[in-house]
Amino acid sequence: MQRSVNAGILGVGMAVPERVMTNADLEKIVDTTDEWIRTRTGIRERRISSPDETSSTLGAEASRRALAHARVPAEELDMIICATATGDYIWPATACLIQQAIGAKRATAYDITAACSGFVYGLATASAYIQSGQARRVLVVGAETLSKMVNWEDRATCVLFGDGAGAAVLGPCAPDEGVLSSATGSDGGGFEMIILPAGGTKIPITPEVLEQKLNRIFMRGSEVYKFAVKIMGDVCLDALCKANLTPADVSLFIPHQANTRIIEAAASRMGLPPEKVFINLDRYGNTSAASIPIGLTEAVTEGRVKRGDVLVFVGFGAGLTWGANVVRWSRD
Ligand code: UT7
Repeated sequence: MQRSVNAGILGVGMAVPERVMTNADLEKIVDTTDEWIRTRTGIRERRISSPDETSSTLGAEASRRALAHARVPAEELDMIICATATGDYIWPATACLIQQAIGAKRATAYDITAACSGFVYGLATASAYIQSGQARRVLVVGAETLSKMVNWEDRATCVLFGDGAGAAVLGPCAPDEGVLSSATGSDGGGFEMIILPAGGTKIPITPEVLEQKLNRIFMRGSEVYKFAVKIMGDVCLDALCKANLTPADVSLFIPHQANTRIIEAAASRMGLPPEKVFINLDRYGNTSAASIPIGLTEAVTEGRVKRGDVLVFVGFGAGLTWGANVVRWSRD
């Protein structure tokens, strides 16, 4: 099929809570050390939402900033896709709350549940809608408040996560720019590796469930680590191949920020030098679906992205899910 348009990123924005929690703060809560967290993960501090801040409030603020950056009024949005694992409610969708908050009256709004791969899945979906002509302006948001769902007594997980949101506005651009390709995959066989066991229909909330903290994030960290190291490189190479590009063409690699060692392994698999790898995990921890759009917004703000640059986004997470997008930056 001859494609006449691609989906370009017209603007980006982010919002993070003001409150900073350092590794030293965590030393007072659980049996951990700054040294362990830094050397095993690369994280120094993370942002923690206030009781009033939710995934939708952070997502709405990131969206307003992305719309302003794109110079697109909210009323022009055809669709809002929110990637979140920590929605305000089980349902309705957090995307609908964001729609209401920003006044995007015409938009169809729904959530994607793909955990840390959510933004990559969202970009792939938005791009398909725009390429097929079914939508012209699509907002993709990654918004998380993981601090409200971690078990603050489990040192193996509570030190890893942080809160925040990032957003991107997409619209038609020339066929050789914008989202050039996406590669995605899932393996439900690993569904128990990262899971929030209770609160759905399988394990309803009871006093016993709350006592056992089954309504909190559970993760088999070292198994996820091994999966991530392999899948990150594989899916990036797959997406680059689909775009007829090689790792040598990559200008900036913006991976999901889970662990510096995982990011370095993926970068080394692609032969990328450190200056082509974006890392802000030290300041935000793992913000799940928000980590890539937050990273992209910071990279753009810092002047690390210019028109024609080839960007690679890659995520992996609960599901199991994984995915990568190759984007040729289309903004001046
Ligand atoms: O966003 C996608 C989802 N998540 C991820 O991508 C996370 C992927 N996994 C990881 O990043 C790493 O597996 C972790 C950072 C979670 C853990 O690092 P690890 O090198 O795989 O450590 P481990 O789980 O094998 O634990 C090693 C030791 C254990 O002690 P013993 O059994 O050797 O005595 C843990 O109990 O480290 C201990 N430990 C801690 N010690 C101090 C685990 N958490 C902590 C902690 N502070 N916070």
